[in-house]
Amino acid sequence: MTARIELPAPLTEAEIASVRREYRAASLLPKRAYHDPAIFDWERAHVVRKDWVLVGREEDAPQPGTYTLVELDGESLIVVRGQDRELRAFFNVCRHRGTAVAEEACGKVVRFQCPYHAWIYDLEGHLVRAKHTEDLEDFSFERFGLATVRLETWQGFVFVNLDREAEPLADQLGDLVDHWSRFDFRSLRSAKRVEYDVAANWKFVAENYSECYHCPGVHPQLNKLTPYDLGGDFDPHGGWQGGWMELVDAAETMSLDGGHGSKAGRPSMAGITELDERRIYYYVLWPTTFLSIHPDYLLVHRLVPQGPDRTLIVCDWLFEAETIATPGFDPSDAVAFWDLTNRQDWHVCELQQRGTRSSSWVAGRYTDAEASVHAFDQMVVDRYSGASSWSQRVVRERYDVPPPKPGASDEGGDGVATGGPAPGARTGARTKAAATR
Ligand code: FES
Ligand SMILES: [Fe+2]
Repeated sequence: MTARIELPAPLTEAEIASVRREYRAASLLPKRAYHDPAIFDWERAHVVRKDWVLVGREEDAPQPGTYTLVELDGESLIVVRGQDRELRAFFNVCRHRGTAVAEEACGKVVRFQCPYHAWIYDLEGHLVRAKHTEDLEDFSFERFGLATVRLETWQGFVFVNLDREAEPLADQLGDLVDHWSRFDFRSLRSAKRVEYDVAANWKFVAENYSECYHCPGVHPQLNKLTPYDLGGDFDPHGGWQGGWMELVDAAETMSLDGGHGSKAGRPSMAGITELDERRIYYYVLWPTTFLSIHPDYLLVHRLVPQGPDRTLIVCDWLFEAETIATPGFDPSDAVAFWDLTNRQDWHVCELQQRGTRSSSWVAGRYTDAEASVHAFDQMVVDRYSGASSWSQRVVRERYDVPPPKPGASDEGGDGVATGGPAPGARTGARTKAAATR
C-alpha cells in the first residue's frame, strides 16, 4: 500500500503518539477529533473518499437491469447489475450537462435515459445514443460513458471506493476474510431496517460499539443475556477489530422475550458451529460498519457521517432467506431487543457529544475494559498519520490471561470450532475477561 497523505495530519505528532502508547499509558483522541469541522472534512477526503466503504447488499440489485442509488459523501452513485450479471457502480451524472440520470432510489431498467436531452447509457455504462453529436470534434461514444466507481463484493456486501488508485478491498479487510471463511452470508436478506439520526460524531458511536464497560448500567437487558465481563477479543490484522461475548446458559440469542433469549424457532445460520451457538461476535469494519453475528441473524450497522456532530445510522437485521420464507417467521423479538439497545447507546453517545464540547474537557484515558476502543482509535490515528499499513494491535494483552501451563496444548477453540483457531484469536475459550462491547 502506498503512503496516502497529501494534506497535513489533523493531529499533532504528540497527540498521535499519545494514542499509540500501550493502553495503560495512552490517552483518547483529543476533543477536536470529534468536534472540529476541519477534521471532519479531512476524514471525508482521506477516509470516506479513499477507503472501501460498505454501501449495501448484492440483493439490492439481484437481476440484470435492477439498480439502486447509493449516497456516498454527497455523491449519488448507481449500483446496477449488467446483462452479464456483473454488479457495477457509476456516478449518477450524465456526461452531457451533468444531469442526474436516475431519479428513483431503485428500480429495473433496460437502459438509463437522461431525463434532460435523452442521452442513453446501457447497463454497462456505455453511451449508446446522443443525438446531434455526429460532427463534434474530439468526441466518441466510447469516451463519454458514465464515469465508473470501483466496486467489490464480499459475503454479499457491496463496497465502493471513490479512489481509482486504491488497493483492492482484500487489503483493507486483511485477515477478516480468513476469519470468516466458515460463513457464507450471501444468502442472507434484510427482514427489517431502522434508521437513526444521532447527534454524535461517528467515532464516538464506533467507540461505544467497541466496549461493554457501559453495559451493566446502560443495557441491563443485554447484560442479562451476555454479561459484560464474559468474552474476549481477536487480534486483528487489517482494517477491522472484533471480539465476542458469551451467552448465559439460558439464552440462545439476543432477543426481547423476557430475558430467555430464545431464537423463536429460527434455525442457526449456515456455518454457525457449536461454539458460535454460545456467542455473539462483534466486528467493527473500518471505517463505518459494525457487523454483529448472532447464531440466527446478522445485525448490520452502517454509519453515514453527516457532520462532526451528526451521524445517520442504518441498521439491518439479516436472516437466511429460507428462514424469512418460513410460515410464521417473526423477527420482532430480535428487532425490539436491538432497537432498545441501539437507543440506549445513542442516548449516551449524544450526551458524550454534548459533554465533550465543554472547554473543560481534555482527552480521557482508557480503562482495562476499553482496549478495543483503543484498538479502534489506533486505526483512526493510522489514517490521521498517513501510515501505509495498519498498526499492529495486540488487544489480548490487556487481559489478565493466565500463562499456559508448561506442556499444556493450546485449546485453539477461539472463534472457529472447525478448521483450527482463527488467525490471531485469543486462546483460552471461556476465559472471564473484559468484554468487547
Ligand atoms: S444533460 Fe443529460 S442529456 Fe443533456
Ligand atoms: Fe452499548
